[in-house]
Amino acid sequence: MRISVIGCGYLGAVHAAAMADLGHEVIAVDVDAAKVDALAQGKPPFFEPGLPEILSSSLASGRLRFTTDISEVAGASLHFIAVGTPQSENSGAADLRFVHAVIDALIPHLGSADVIVGKSTVPVGTAEALSHRLLAAGSSATLAWNPEFLREGFAIKDTLSPDRLVFGFGEGPGALQARSALRDVYSQAIASGTPVVETDLATAELVKTAANAFLATKISFINAMSEIAEVTGANVTELADAIGYDARIGRKFLNAGVGFGGGCLPKDIRAFSARAQELGLGSSVAFLDEVDAINLRQRERVIARVIADAGGDAAGLRVAVLGLAFKPHSDDVRDSPALDVAQGLLAAGADVVAYDPQAHGPALLRLPKLNLADTLEQVLVGADIAVLVTEWPEFVALDPRVAGDLMAHKRIVDARNVLDADTWRAAGFHYSSLGRP
Ligand code: UGA
Repeated sequence: MRISVIGCGYLGAVHAAAMADLGHEVIAVDVDAAKVDALAQGKPPFFEPGLPEILSSSLASGRLRFTTDISEVAGASLHFIAVGTPQSENSGAADLRFVHAVIDALIPHLGSADVIVGKSTVPVGTAEALSHRLLAAGSSATLAWNPEFLREGFAIKDTLSPDRLVFGFGEGPGALQARSALRDVYSQAIASGTPVVETDLATAELVKTAANAFLATKISFINAMSEIAEVTGANVTELADAIGYDARIGRKFLNAGVGFGGGCLPKDIRAFSARAQELGLGSSVAFLDEVDAINLRQRERVIARVIADAGGDAAGLRVAVLGLAFKPHSDDVRDSPALDVAQGLLAAGADVVAYDPQAHGPALLRLPKLNLADTLEQVLVGADIAVLVTEWPEFVALDPRVAGDLMAHKRIVDARNVLDADTWRAAGFHYSSLGRP
């Protein structure tokens, strides 16, 4: 099929490359010329395992092209909207200006039977408003919604073999045609058994918001349990294992630690809360404010713990921060708990040095004062205490004997609960974590 993808950020770049990899002819559009140039040379402007490979092969096949010129979408009949919906500057609400701008820019280039498919995460009601916008401009193109559930670090797999596909359609005459276009574009995933949920526009929008709200709630639930565990001497990891065996609960997303971050979960729960308030339903999701508060409290807990474990005085304390990305296998530092911990320790007067296998560039853009080490060994040299805030495999595999030889004092705070306490203590470390004795 001939498709266009508008917006070449994380979602759009991956979607465009994956669709071309499936055999579709893809024109991908972004207003950022530097981003378009980099992608056209097969160089993603962010770290995502597997993306450079499918980008290069799709570019070489001629099926994938990048451009800043929106008029080039004219040859395609299916247009995916993949622009960002960041948090507004002055509130928790989603900023929809890019989504609206794309619709306006697309309108002059649309054929009467074209289908526009929203993939961006938007507040419920947005698709209906965009449909009205199309109609008001005299366009007879159809709008459908197909939310994206990809995880950074697993984006290619999640796009090519998703857990489920959700298609939302309006009531207009183009719905049948939109359905058939979406079934065609995803025919390989559907043929291999991916479940498809077909629904209305509002439900499709809400599925995405609700899924991220649920995931965030799960993480904050276990982090709240870790606060209780800490005071009562219980072990939150064993608690998570035990409740996780109940298939109704499940063990995934019950890892207590410094909490969730990234470009999605934090902003999505805030946008959900803001939208619910607009609808007069603020109390229905008021718990999400608490989910957010628990999550942000974890960062403060970790900062306080590092200072307390090192004797209570942050001034001049040499702290090795292990990790800056919001999670491993990513260079994304948006709303990263790791970066906030580094910043908080700096603000408290500590001498902070950080190391992350991928995120130094993005971290320096946000925190230019941060001192960085080139290797894991280097960040540990002379440290009074280390804090593990992103569970990269090389940190999890760190040998405490090696770490102990490099550091000035053998102290570690495991803010992701991923190290073996006994092994570290046996190596002479003062080891502490969140919610484990
Ligand atoms: C999340 C969702 O998982 C995707 O399904 C969704 O498509 C995406 O947001 C989005 O809206 O675009 P992502 O932000 O890539 O994906 O990251 P996750 O793997 O969900 O992790 C989010 C955060 O939760 C990370 O900071 C991670 O460290 C933290 N986390 C996760 C925990 O603290 N504990 C856990 O048990 C699991």
